[in-house]
Amino acid sequence: MPSPTDPGRPILEVKGLVKHYPVTQGVLLKREVGRVKAVDGVDLELRRGETLGVVGESGCGKSTLARLLLAAERPTSGTVRFDGQDVFALPRRELRALRRRIQIVLQDPYTSLNPRMTVGDIVGEPFEIHPEVAPKGERRAKVSELLELVGLDPGHVGRYPHQFSGGQRQRVGIARALALRPEVVVCDEPVSALDVSVQAQVMNLLAELQRELGLAYVFIAHDLAAVRHISDRVAVMYLGKVVETGGEAEIYDHPTHPYTQALLSAVPVPDPDAPAWAEQTMLEGDPPSPLNPPSGCRLRTRCWKAQDVCATDEPELVVREGSDHPSACHFAVGEEIAGTP
Ligand SMILES: Nc1ncnc2c1ncn2[C@@H]1O[C@H](COP(=O)(O)OP(=O)(O)OP(=O)(O)O)[C@@H](O)[C@H]1O
Ligand SMILES: [Mg+2]
Repeated sequence: MPSPTDPGRPILEVKGLVKHYPVTQGVLLKREVGRVKAVDGVDLELRRGETLGVVGESGCGKSTLARLLLAAERPTSGTVRFDGQDVFALPRRELRALRRRIQIVLQDPYTSLNPRMTVGDIVGEPFEIHPEVAPKGERRAKVSELLELVGLDPGHVGRYPHQFSGGQRQRVGIARALALRPEVVVCDEPVSALDVSVQAQVMNLLAELQRELGLAYVFIAHDLAAVRHISDRVAVMYLGKVVETGGEAEIYDHPTHPYTQALLSAVPVPDPDAPAWAEQTMLEGDPPSPLNPPSGCRLRTRCWKAQDVCATDEPELVVREGSDHPSACHFAVGEEIAGTP
């Protein structure tokens, strides 16, 4: 048995994670009439210092997954292990200690910062909650250090969020996330609300901080292009499930799941050497509701490869013949024979 601090052990291990939200009707006697299957059986691993990109369309369960990783919500079933410890089985005190080690950066720096607090108070707030990390007398200096670390002027500690640009506000959010020296940072679409011109700056900052501080990231985004640069591995989600996962090159150069292929070919590149799948991969319509996902394979209602078996048998996320990484498609094959199920 490896010890809980075994450096070879993944820092995060997610197994069979499920989060269903009951939908109720009636005012007094709330009757459950359905369940939103926001996260529906997810397995993931994050190693120390690496970045796992998590990608999928709006509503596929990315933010719900993020909240579960942070133990901000309890799952319907399944486990999250942080450094070997079963997060949802921990006594309150130990859970509190563990929360220091995983932090989140949210999408919208406009709504996630309290407009009535100064930037210094915002960045220093985690020390109020975890006073053991920095005694009162050291907090000012720590806040200055953090501001400097994210490229902000420590002289601006007394300013309010509205006095900063979008990119600067996201730097404030990042500084606050780093205050407690976490090992894991969940970045939930941290640049998608920013002007395109500042997105790259914030991405570069996150990459630099990762190198400098040895952080591991779960990096959530809508599209694959946004995370390629920063990801070591990628998990592609569709309607609450991971449909394909693998190393960066495996996912971008040899995608085997029709959904991954569709996401990649959504960016048209006129390339005569493009693999066969790049031409035939358009998804029809919008994703179905997670309240009532299709039977069998959830993609089948939009998939050009769908056959009868897809309606009856749910494909497992396993390594398929001709490929080297897991894919949850009955017809996932290496790209040479793609399109001939
Ligand atoms: N607290 C909640 N109660 C009920 N349903 C919820 C709750 N939180 C999320 N959902 C539902 O769960 C599904 C997944 O939502 P989630 O926010 O995790 O998706 P997402 O992938 O982060 O989407 P986006 O890309 O738009 O941020 C959605 O159908 C959403 O409406
Ligand atoms: Mg979200």
